[in-house]
Amino acid sequence: METWKVIYNRYEAEKEKLREALCVLGNGYFATRGAFECCNADEIHYPGTYLAGGYNRLTTQVAGKEIENEDLVNFPNWLPLKFKIEDGDWITPENIKIESYKAEVHLKNGVLKRKLRFTDSKNRKTEWRSERIVSMTHKHRAAIKWELNALNWEGNIQIQSALDATVINSGVERYGELNNKHLETLDKGITPNNNIFIKVITNQSRVVMAQAARTYFYSNNKKINPEIHNIEENEFIAQNFHLKLQKNIPLQVEKHVSLFTSKDEAISEPLLEAKEELEKMNTFAELAKDQINSWEALWDQNDIEITSENIEDQLVLRFHVFHILQTYSANSVSMDTGIPARGWHGEAYRGHIFWDEMFTFPLFNISSPEISRSLLLYRYRRLPAARLAAKKAGFKGAMFPWQSGSNGREENQVIHLNPESGQWNPDNTYLQRHVNAAISYNVWTYFETTGDLEFLSFHGAEMMLEIAHFWSKKCHFSEEKNRYEIHQIVGPDEYHTQYPDCEDLGLKNNAYTNIMAVWSLDHALQALEKLDDLRVKHLLSQLDISTEELERWKNITQKMYVPFIENSGVIEQFEGFDKLEDLDWGKYQQKHGENMRLDRILGAEGDQVNKYKAVKQADVLMLFYLFSAEQIKDLLHKLGYDFDPKKHIPENIEYYRKITSHGSTLSQLVHSWVYARQDRSKSWHNFKKALMSDIKDVQGGTTPEGIHLGAMAGTINLIQECYTGMDFRKDALYFQPKLPDDLKNIKFRLRYLQHWIELELDSDCLRLKNNGNWHKEIRIFVRTKKFIFKPFEEKTILYNNL
Ligand code: BGC
Repeated sequence: METWKVIYNRYEAEKEKLREALCVLGNGYFATRGAFECCNADEIHYPGTYLAGGYNRLTTQVAGKEIENEDLVNFPNWLPLKFKIEDGDWITPENIKIESYKAEVHLKNGVLKRKLRFTDSKNRKTEWRSERIVSMTHKHRAAIKWELNALNWEGNIQIQSALDATVINSGVERYGELNNKHLETLDKGITPNNNIFIKVITNQSRVVMAQAARTYFYSNNKKINPEIHNIEENEFIAQNFHLKLQKNIPLQVEKHVSLFTSKDEAISEPLLEAKEELEKMNTFAELAKDQINSWEALWDQNDIEITSENIEDQLVLRFHVFHILQTYSANSVSMDTGIPARGWHGEAYRGHIFWDEMFTFPLFNISSPEISRSLLLYRYRRLPAARLAAKKAGFKGAMFPWQSGSNGREENQVIHLNPESGQWNPDNTYLQRHVNAAISYNVWTYFETTGDLEFLSFHGAEMMLEIAHFWSKKCHFSEEKNRYEIHQIVGPDEYHTQYPDCEDLGLKNNAYTNIMAVWSLDHALQALEKLDDLRVKHLLSQLDISTEELERWKNITQKMYVPFIENSGVIEQFEGFDKLEDLDWGKYQQKHGENMRLDRILGAEGDQVNKYKAVKQADVLMLFYLFSAEQIKDLLHKLGYDFDPKKHIPENIEYYRKITSHGSTLSQLVHSWVYARQDRSKSWHNFKKALMSDIKDVQGGTTPEGIHLGAMAGTINLIQECYTGMDFRKDALYFQPKLPDDLKNIKFRLRYLQHWIELELDSDCLRLKNNGNWHKEIRIFVRTKKFIFKPFEEKTILYNNL
């Protein structure tokens, strides 16, 4: 089986939108769904082109309310290329008889290929091959190459090549009632040398995009100059080419496209640049050669080789790396954009940035820290908006939004549609303030992995301090409990946004949030210790943080309240959770399977999920995902809670396992992780489920609207950090390897404190090779044994007896 190609051997119309999302080609600057070039948006096909961070806001009157949403804009479709034979219809997969079919995503070099043989209504047999590239090397370029071969006929054909700005955002059915026309066409036409172009602007954010395209033909290595008819409509520009196809003499078609926007750096004006760029493009073959080089460099840094019982695991893991790199690459670094929860692969969640980024940092931290830095800077630039949000809500410091888009305001939708009931309900999930802790966590883990003190000093510490200040004000001291508490909060489990039969929004003392707040306060203090005195003095005075305030932080880290279920070591998800009703799990699982959106299902039955002990996704268990047993024990002991990890972690896992509906793809991977130390075969079982989330669309229809980037990245972390037990703490690199039986071997490269390290792990041996560096020696702990690792050294460590 192939481990570098995802292959579809049959055309299945009902799966086409899923495959379009899975066959996206992107370069971190823009991305295009893997739709057929010849198809417009309809119930089977949905071509979409998205610019990284290309947002626009629209207002709609819905359910008696005026609501504004910021969407990831579907920009003009540059794909259109279609053909017809004689005066027949334009060929689509729906009006021909497909005799053979193969679509392939080549992960190694970022090419999408399709080959099909078909018979049309007049019994003409044709072979039709296509290849597509969105260039990683030249971020403004993309190209298509076709080869048409008339197998048993010859005759006239027409080929149409177009740029189509009539597109709207209609990729998510649930958003169907919302306004969806984001583009105005500013200009379009044909250049003197017969290239077409179109220039659009988003109607609110005023982002301009220009596209230019040239189409040319050759056969037997000779250029053909067909007769051309130009078509200009309001928002559409095309050329129809009239040619003759001869039997068994293949015709090659190339469409080259350039794309610029007003957000680009180092440009004069997008249309001018797009036209000039097109002139610089040569052949498809040349673009393909550059593409191979760029992807080779990416794979050298990012590939993960595994040997497991099923070779498909290797393929899917690479597929995940591929999509992450297509979403955010070196091309994204200058773009001031975050990493979206659903990739630039579809319109679900509108391209917004969530806490999901926390799952992608580990991969970037050890392979391309410059990307982590860029993601953190996206947050840093939105610090003023977060400060304003904190102030408006009556707090201090910075309160980052649950959903972030263009300028850092809260982009959570006000109301959302329950597709099961057809009702619009308020969406109060924005109360997930834990996103702030995730940002602090990302700053700190970036620092621990890279040692980038400069970043910490200039940007990172400021974010950590502002977030800590927010938590300090968000807490209040309860005389009754003699502890600090946090109210009006929602945890990662979005099923519970308020108590049943209670008007007030939010919950009291979500354990995950409270502990993460403690972690944020503690690490903001630790960050201060890393900086020089002068910088500390300036930062504290600039941020108006007094010595008393710092004392309060210390105090909170010793006196935060964490709810526990009575007479047990089970951390209660939030205060009062244990008093909720039990759900009849058997009834719902029988009908809806393992992964359920109980909020929608129960809502449609006129019931409410928040009445029940039913969890959408890992919430308390997130703590065991982010922290080792030792760390969580220390955190809780410092707070004065008795917690015995050996006894209590399994108790917690078992309690929440039974009541989790895995309504988010993030859930299975967290469960897999927490099982890793305790029950490796269960861990592997959950890993496989998380691995298949997108490729098999396990949530039943969500992947066509965009991949789940957090879950994809999470599966990589499981291999790289969980099963190796890799951790970066206190200036040392730790390994606690524990491979599941089905996973025989892991190999990858990582960057730690500016060293490139090659790692190979099997069931008893850890091999490390230090491939040179910009840094002196590093400290490594394997289990409890310490090693000093010098540049260019190699180590083979038999770890089972350490
Ligand atoms: C999950 C969140 C996640 C969001 C975006 C939701 O379904 O509950 O945890 O951040 O999707 O992926």
